[in-house]
Amino acid sequence: MDERIIDLRSDTVTRPSSGMREAISRAEVGDDVLGDDPTVKRLEERMARLLEKDAAVYVPSGTMANTLALLSQTSPGDEVILDRRCHIFNYEVAGASAVGGLQLYPMDGPAGLLPLADLPSAVRPANIHHPRTALVAVENTHNRAGGRIYPIDELEAVSRFARERRLRVHMDGARLANASVKTGIPFERYGALADSISMCFSKGLGAPVGSILVSDAATIDRARVWRKRLGGGMRQAGILAAACLYALDHNVARLAEDHERAARIGRMIEASHRFRLTFPVETNIVIFEAVEGAPDAAAVDAALRREGILALPFGGRYTRMVTHLDIHDEDMERLDRVLPRVLAG
Ligand SMILES: Cc1ncc(COP(=O)(O)O)c(C=O)c1O
Repeated sequence: MDERIIDLRSDTVTRPSSGMREAISRAEVGDDVLGDDPTVKRLEERMARLLEKDAAVYVPSGTMANTLALLSQTSPGDEVILDRRCHIFNYEVAGASAVGGLQLYPMDGPAGLLPLADLPSAVRPANIHHPRTALVAVENTHNRAGGRIYPIDELEAVSRFARERRLRVHMDGARLANASVKTGIPFERYGALADSISMCFSKGLGAPVGSILVSDAATIDRARVWRKRLGGGMRQAGILAAACLYALDHNVARLAEDHERAARIGRMIEASHRFRLTFPVETNIVIFEAVEGAPDAAAVDAALRREGILALPFGGRYTRMVTHLDIHDEDMERLDRVLPRVLAG
């Protein structure tokens, strides 16, 4: 067996490159809780400009960015409409409910999208018995829908609807850069369709830590208070922000390579008779499933591990593989040789 592990569990497994480490070592820093870290400020200002919003706040994780977004635009007892498969509903330990007292209203739409036709009936009419519907959340790209890009016309429709009803829109854009690179749609056009946007630097962009929340000035002021309250105020965070700035300079356009590699893995799955793609591959995430009689995800995982390949069992018959900047051409050549054999059993 080859020595090198091919780690396709997530795009969060990347390690900072030597260029990024150099940028970290040169970072100017200060106490960011006191507003003194020039590198964090540069990152926040750059992201606000990129998405054409007033302001931004740098936070330790995508989970915190989403939680702050919801808590800063709602009041306890409000309701938030979102899609049942989304990260906020499934993987954030109910933070919005536990910390913010929010009620989540999950909807079943077409793979990761909100069902447009059903949105009007999801908004609560004013009545003493009802919670107030306050916010609609969308996820772009969508993790559990296999990296699906939220189609821009659908996003426009959600945004229009929300504005007519005076609801806020939050976009979980943990992988918004993947969507923008793939579609060619500039960040600011996505930004115009949401009141707040979160984006992660520690996924496809390859930084070790950090996410950003971008919005209007009043929302970001409230988010800063929530960040501090939750213990997310960081001191000389410029060493982390420097990695994120480096990622914006060097690792955005190259996401196209991750997308091509994911498509290549997708073609291997399609060629197998025992597995099929659960969602078309649009960006860097591949979700596939065993057909009737084929080994389940745990067995696939065990077979891949014996070959030095890590994937993520995604429940029952489903497996997820994610490409990222630490997957290279040599890894793809090895996958070309090994994956069809493993899938064939
Ligand atoms: C769509 C989406 N949103 C938010 C997050 C949360 O990011 P973090 O792991 O930094 O909390 C993730 C993490 O995988 C994600 O996929």
